[in-house]
Amino acid sequence: MTGDKAFYVTTPIYYVNDAPHIGHAYTTIAGDVLARWHRQRGEAVWFLTGTDEHGTKVERTAEDHNVEPQAWCDTLVEEAWKPVLETIDASNDDFIRTTSGRHRDGVQRFWEQLKGTQYVYEGDYEGPYCVDCEEFKVAADLIDGTGKFAGEKVCPIHGRPVEMLSETNWFFKLSAFSDRLLEHYATNPNAIEPQSARNEVVSFIKQGLDDISMSRSSVSWGVPLPWDETQVVYVWFDALLNYVTAIGYGAREGSPEAEKFQNTWPANVHLVGKDILRFHAVFWPAMLMAADLPLPETVFAHGWLLVGGEKMSKSKLTGIAPSQIIDHFGSDAFRYYFLRSIQFGSDGSFSWEDMSARYTSELANGFGNLVSRATAMVGRYCDGVLPEPGAYSNADLALQDAMMAAIERADAAMVQLDFATGIGAVEEFVGAINIYVTEQEPWALAKDPASADRLRTVLYVICEALRVVAVAHHATMPKSTLALWGRLGAEPHLGPLGEQPVQDAGRWGQLPPGAAVTKGDALFPRLEDPAAAEKPSSE
Ligand code: MSP
Repeated sequence: MTGDKAFYVTTPIYYVNDAPHIGHAYTTIAGDVLARWHRQRGEAVWFLTGTDEHGTKVERTAEDHNVEPQAWCDTLVEEAWKPVLETIDASNDDFIRTTSGRHRDGVQRFWEQLKGTQYVYEGDYEGPYCVDCEEFKVAADLIDGTGKFAGEKVCPIHGRPVEMLSETNWFFKLSAFSDRLLEHYATNPNAIEPQSARNEVVSFIKQGLDDISMSRSSVSWGVPLPWDETQVVYVWFDALLNYVTAIGYGAREGSPEAEKFQNTWPANVHLVGKDILRFHAVFWPAMLMAADLPLPETVFAHGWLLVGGEKMSKSKLTGIAPSQIIDHFGSDAFRYYFLRSIQFGSDGSFSWEDMSARYTSELANGFGNLVSRATAMVGRYCDGVLPEPGAYSNADLALQDAMMAAIERADAAMVQLDFATGIGAVEEFVGAINIYVTEQEPWALAKDPASADRLRTVLYVICEALRVVAVAHHATMPKSTLALWGRLGAEPHLGPLGEQPVQDAGRWGQLPPGAAVTKGDALFPRLEDPAAAEKPSSE
């Protein structure tokens, strides 16, 4: 298959030392909404996620559970990581595991090639290592431990002691890339987003970069170095390569995989949490430069979900499983809430109270109730057949203008990964439709036969406005918008919802009179007991 380059979006590949929590789901949802939005812009899209299975952390976890690392990974991937993608309704095109043959081959090929350059050399490493970060540290990174770690130097992120390493391994000449990286970031201001993240990386590089071990001799769970089987590739220099191995890096020229690589690389967006920005904005581009491969367009570092002011994490026992929230609110509300209520790029706190409040006001009473009222009125006053509109009043035309403005604002924001603004633009338009309904009072028009023509126009306007809401909210809330598409009777006339181009969505009058409108169950059922809604059920 040849053709246009795909819009390529990735999530980090997640460690399988534990089950996913909502922090991991947050990144995947952002990637999913972005991927779906671009698909609806008519672009070819490739959305990749997966799992990072090598390294000390995973190896030790398996050991603690008395199973072989491979068996541990297989179980966690099949029973925890892949199922969560279903739970959150992710539409990833592929799932890469670093223990797969395609990945291992690509990693070996990559480093074999670099071995032949000046960028890989043998040396001695001595220094601290944080297993939780899987990162070589320098003394200045560490802080004094407290509590049971008092008197020890600990990792500032995990609060746990580091280990002192002393091993002979192979180095990657990172120091050779400082100037080229600085030049790259100077000429490509959007290569790291948001700008605060870019500034942080640039000042880090300006301090000077040290060479770094690209292999480990005291670790066995990893990809063996092709030229030195006593060593495995350092887990980050294995994991980062997933972004290219998954799309056919190193495949035989002329093969379909090689073509896939041509049509997909470089990535348009690498989504990462800010905790792993340096790996993606310093190591990764340097590796690519060393291999003469193009650099990704943007690395976007989003903020953390916080619990009690700290990064939510399993190791600190603050992780919440996505299903705990989704069982209660549904996957659409979950996706909507996290992207609508937290500015992407900033930290945000999760609370059941805040989520319940937004669910009730914006989804149950706002969007959901509007759909119920609109479809019920077409049922009651027009036998479920979308009526023909008559002449438009100023209020109708104003709503049409608001619709055009909303979709334009949403599109501009979503492609910038400003999800809060993009989703907010649609939500505000839902508010405008609700005001329109209140002001036009179709129920009053229905009482007066002389207003029959006006009633038909008002009902048409409401349903046509809802068509746009379905299109514009589809990337964020795939399930409820599909239900709405069905209730508007749109599919037989306009085709599948996922194929509605967002750029054209603001054109008025696409839903044809005569469409079969039906009322179904509430899209967002009211939370029965507000007190119970504040906490997950204990079952
Ligand atoms: N395996 C590495 C990534 C390798 S990518 C080549 C890794 N894995 S991880 O399992 O620790 O996942 C880290 C990512 O999960 C973060 O970068 C972020 O995307 C997401 N999050 C984990 N906890 C999070 C929060 N509390 N809040 C927001 N995102 C979080 O690092």
